[in-house]
Amino acid sequence: MTGRWRRDPRVAIFTDDPGWHGRALRRALAAHAIETVNVSLKDCAFALATGAPAVLIPGFDGALPRACFVRGVPGGSLEEVVLRLDFLHALELLGIAVFNTGRAIERTVDKAMTSFRLALRGLATPATWVYAASGTMPLELAARLAAGRPLVAKPLFGSQGEGVRRVDSAAVGDAVGGVHYLQDFVARDGPPFRDVRVLVIAGRARYAMERVSAHWVTNRAQGARCLALELTAEIGALAEAATAAVDIDYAGVDLMQDRDGGWWIGEVNGIPAWWGLQQTTSDDITAALAEAFVVKIVALETP
Ligand SMILES: Nc1ncnc2c1ncn2[C@@H]1O[C@H](COP(=O)(O)OP(=O)(O)O)[C@@H](O)[C@H]1O
Ligand SMILES: [Mg+2]
Repeated sequence: MTGRWRRDPRVAIFTDDPGWHGRALRRALAAHAIETVNVSLKDCAFALATGAPAVLIPGFDGALPRACFVRGVPGGSLEEVVLRLDFLHALELLGIAVFNTGRAIERTVDKAMTSFRLALRGLATPATWVYAASGTMPLELAARLAAGRPLVAKPLFGSQGEGVRRVDSAAVGDAVGGVHYLQDFVARDGPPFRDVRVLVIAGRARYAMERVSAHWVTNRAQGARCLALELTAEIGALAEAATAAVDIDYAGVDLMQDRDGGWWIGEVNGIPAWWGLQQTTSDDITAALAEAFVVKIVALETP
């Protein structure tokens, strides 16, 4: 497929904030003799001529990168976000390794689709209801609220714990983007409250950490501390099943343990940062990611 397109031996890192991750990826891929270029999906463009559709990526002078590592997809209007994902889909159609793929990112950015896939596989994830604020609340949810069952409201496209709040009454509060995503509240011991983040790479749970906070929203961005945690078989298997359910190259899986000791999948992050996780281990996480990325690149390049 790529024969008609000029190729550049360098790899594009899609990011708007290269920082530590950009430097770590540059170093880790240099160990594989691969040079990286940090670019924003905001600055890419299509030039679509019959028989020769091109994805224009800054710094590549009309050529295609050898592969793409997706570290960030910037938000924007629906049209802007769809276009940014289109670039990822197009690059994949051109036979280029995209790590994670646009489809996998779509499935995980959207908490409803992630929850649907987890539930479809029969995995332990809290009961969830998603509906348009302009529409009708599902009857079962109304009954749950009337019975005083605590719930958690999350923005459909949320991250870093922003906008995550507890709902204890029939007044479910404002819907971000016109959509309500409400989930059974998993009661955990605390304070301090904890959850577990597992990084799964190429289907294998590789690293885990515990996030500990005075607040039950235990994101690092909300002030949680990251502590080393040994990966157990139980947690590893659950995280691996979660990533298989969304079919993704690498992902950060959030797991919560209830007061009875049961584990629940909170969400799957398709664009996980790993700086915090790196602080809890002496293993080189970026090297592990780079290795899986290179395996995907080579597999696609091998006829
Ligand atoms: N169903 C739930 N019950 C209790 N706490 C939850 C639940 N879902 C999420 N949380 C807490 O809120 C945090 C953020 O939720 P999460 O679904 O991971 O969204 P985000 O994408 O913002 O990280 C989790 O790390 C966890 O501490
Ligand atoms: Mg999370």
